Amino acid sequence: MCGIIGILGNHEVSPQLVEALKRLEYRGYDSAGVATVDADGKLSRRRAVGKLVNLSDRLVHEPLAGHAGIGHTRWATHGAATEANAHPHKRGPVAVVHNGIIENFRELRDEVIALGMTPESETDTETVALLTAWHMSQGLGPVQAARETLARLHGAFALAFLFEGEGNLMIAARKGSPLAVGTGDGEMFIGSDAVALAPFTDRITYLEDGDHAVITRAGAEIFDAEGLPANREIQQIDVGATRIDKGGFRHFMAKEIAEQPVVLGDALNHYIKGDRIVLPDAIDFRDVDRLTLVGCGTAFYAGYVARYWFETLAGIPCDLDVASEFRYREPPLSPKSWAMFVSQSGETADTLAALHYARDKVAKTVGVVNVGTSAIARDADIALPTLAGIEVGVASSKAFTCQLAVLAVLALKAAHDRGRLDDAGLAAHLADLRAIPGLLNQALAVSDGCRKLAGWLSEAQDVLYLGRGSFYPVALEGALKLKELSYIHAEGYASGELKHGPIALIDRNVPVVVVAPRDALFEKTVSNMQEVMARHGQVLLISDVEGIEAGGDGVHASLAMPQGGGSFQPILYAVPMQYLAYHTAVAKGTDVDQPRNLAKSVTVE
Ligand code: AGP
Repeated sequence: MCGIIGILGNHEVSPQLVEALKRLEYRGYDSAGVATVDADGKLSRRRAVGKLVNLSDRLVHEPLAGHAGIGHTRWATHGAATEANAHPHKRGPVAVVHNGIIENFRELRDEVIALGMTPESETDTETVALLTAWHMSQGLGPVQAARETLARLHGAFALAFLFEGEGNLMIAARKGSPLAVGTGDGEMFIGSDAVALAPFTDRITYLEDGDHAVITRAGAEIFDAEGLPANREIQQIDVGATRIDKGGFRHFMAKEIAEQPVVLGDALNHYIKGDRIVLPDAIDFRDVDRLTLVGCGTAFYAGYVARYWFETLAGIPCDLDVASEFRYREPPLSPKSWAMFVSQSGETADTLAALHYARDKVAKTVGVVNVGTSAIARDADIALPTLAGIEVGVASSKAFTCQLAVLAVLALKAAHDRGRLDDAGLAAHLADLRAIPGLLNQALAVSDGCRKLAGWLSEAQDVLYLGRGSFYPVALEGALKLKELSYIHAEGYASGELKHGPIALIDRNVPVVVVAPRDALFEKTVSNMQEVMARHGQVLLISDVEGIEAGGDGVHASLAMPQGGGSFQPILYAVPMQYLAYHTAVAKGTDVDQPRNLAKSVTVE
């Protein structure tokens, strides 16, 4: 989840390293650091705790010269967010930046201690620098020393090495964690993703698992897991799509929420032409006997909503799991089943491992991913882009609704393929789905109401979210959003489940957010709401005008949502979930775009 960057350039690299780290800060922001080799071959570093801006400040007062450098933005795994634990880790003539976890670092650390070396940090990464420095002290050159070290590492890593006296050498290696090599004109780059390299080059090579690269300004020599020279294609990446700005909004998240009608409309236009669904030919659900949907966090909840669609519209039995459980549960999978992996980043370590587990057991793996160049997009049999555009806010908003849009298209395709919907039925459902962008536009108006309720919510210690049917996962998503943005404890429950335990939590201090459009299950949810209010629970009812009229008596507040969208209404109800969390976070003064302890791309287990 950390971000790494490396540059062999023709100018001072510190500013470029910082610029690239800005683009990687979504991966972690506990500390940041850079190391360079200057014209005299001197290897030096600067590090700072906290956000990247602290490192930039430091570099103003203590500049770092050199045309070769590596940089890092950290999401702490081993050791607190201190300067001593910040990367680059430098021992003797070696500096290292790392994303991932070296699982056998304790054993390696004991070894280097036995060799007379003293670790200066609590990190797993430092052992990589120590071991490499030790090999060099035994007479090995930098490349061989790094190779000896790499051969000893267990776990997941993307690593970059820089060496004292070697202004034209960088070594990069990956196992598990992603790593891209960028080719410039007489300059070379490495980075955790292509977006970080976008200001410098659009020519990108993705290292494969087990690869390492020996990089000079003349190019990269890549070797596979066996140490044999490997040919990895240089791809032209669309750098135009990587512009990142807040577009006049106060936060990226506010911008990303507001973008939803447009990006979701674009996604639907990509997959629907008139009354026709346009998907790769290989997407044919006729012989599929079962579906498995896998993801983490918000992506898991997107799969959760989609399960209702696949089951009710297409009649396909669906299993659903969080990737971290799925990958170790060893679930038996039918060879006629398909497995779908939902992920914004396409790099989430658990989801990627779940895909690798499933791929030789099921008939087809499908990645529903936002980042088209990601590992899940590359490794799935079929990758379907969600087309949300870059999402910078760590809390997912537009990526969620675009995931839902693509999953809805897939569910309709399945329903049609399997004869559950005839052409007219399909056209009617497609009309409902195509209405969603316009309705989303109207739904954005709940922002004001959410802002007015933010003071009330921000006083709470606990908040419950209730929903039924396909609105139950929307409630789960609402609770997750509030937790991650405002640090208020929140839980989502199926409305009918409340009386089986959680109702014990209800008193006048516990706001209860009820997500319930006036549908077939509405009356049942209203009964659950009455049970809450009878115990002095303060209810916020989110429904349509009819629902509020029919069930809104006695509630603390209500938010009116537009009517329409048929089965796809859960997409609309994501908006109040997002705005409630957003405005509550603003009211509390928390860091909306980069909430504490989180990172956007979770590339460790
Ligand atoms: C969303 O708000 C979260 N920050 C998080 O749950 C996220 O959805 C999860 O980590 C999965 O990420 P992915 O979609 O990139 O796989």
